[in-house]
Amino acid sequence: MFEGATGALTNLLYDIALAAKIISGHVRRAGLTDIMGSVGQINVQGEDQQKLDVIANETIKNAVAHTGRVSVLASEEEEYPVTTNLGSGKGSYVLLFDPLDGSSNIDVNVSIGTIFSIYRTINKDCAGLTDCLQRGREQVAAGYVMYGSSTVMVYTTGHGVHGFTLDPSIGEFLLMNSDIKTPLSGKYYSVNESNFTRWSEGYRQTVLCFKGAGGEDNMRKNARYIGSLVADFHRNLLTGGVFMYPRDNKSPNGKLRLLYEANPLAFIVEQAGGAAHDGLNPILDIEPTELHQRTPLIIGSSEDVEFVRRKVAEVESAQ
Ligand code: AHG
Ligand code: MN
Ligand code: MN
Repeated sequence: MFEGATGALTNLLYDIALAAKIISGHVRRAGLTDIMGSVGQINVQGEDQQKLDVIANETIKNAVAHTGRVSVLASEEEEYPVTTNLGSGKGSYVLLFDPLDGSSNIDVNVSIGTIFSIYRTINKDCAGLTDCLQRGREQVAAGYVMYGSSTVMVYTTGHGVHGFTLDPSIGEFLLMNSDIKTPLSGKYYSVNESNFTRWSEGYRQTVLCFKGAGGEDNMRKNARYIGSLVADFHRNLLTGGVFMYPRDNKSPNGKLRLLYEANPLAFIVEQAGGAAHDGLNPILDIEPTELHQRTPLIIGSSEDVEFVRRKVAEVESAQ
């Protein structure tokens, strides 16, 4: 505990862990209960909302909205920020989250996850949108849950990265890895190669290097792409490597969302000794302007992220 600490942040992390246990229970029974498939409506992202997206979103909101700890929350599945505590907007913390990451993998039993990001409330009278639009550097905590072969929760409060595994026999998360550090360089690169023709030349040349065809054979890597950001990120965090979702001519600002995908994972990876860029600048330095704004994301081992940034700049400055 730290000087002046009230325990509210610890309790908020427990609230999130409770929500994660409930969501994990739903995920483990998917197929046996009617929670797979689409709800038949399009969310604010323009995506076909899945039943589990809605269940996860409601579960997290219900776990935190009346505790007095969270003043305002924002979710990938909510068009606008939600002021909590009966609309008073009072509470020490702001919670931003992607309730269910990797929705396209729900029905095919591939790892999916939840990502969350926590800030201090700025407007003590009544928190709102401006409390949600803080730079990633201001985060006080960030984490993710991965519903994979086991359910793991990884988070940081700025004092290292710690990993827990859910023991279903006792319903508790048990510490498995304290102070996770990611390798300086890794053997994997993760990118959706079907976007190859949509990328700028710099990203094409960079990925060719990872394939051993770009003239930098020391950068040859093995390809792994799960299609769930949490799963691709978690593998690279532990074994080393780089995940890329660059801007392209279909998604000029990239596909992934800054506030509840890129920022929390960037906080985690920097605490683990890695790096996260939008291709030009560190993710955590971006000044948000919109709740659901997207960003290009290059994240993982520091030397690999720096290689991508350098190679893209080299190729594109020579054009
Ligand atoms: P979400 O399910 O929350 O919308 O996130 C999906 C994201 C991310 O998990 C993954 O890395 C990426 O979408 C995959 O996108 P592509 O299918 O375009 O590769
Ligand atoms: Mn997501
Ligand atoms: Mn999602």
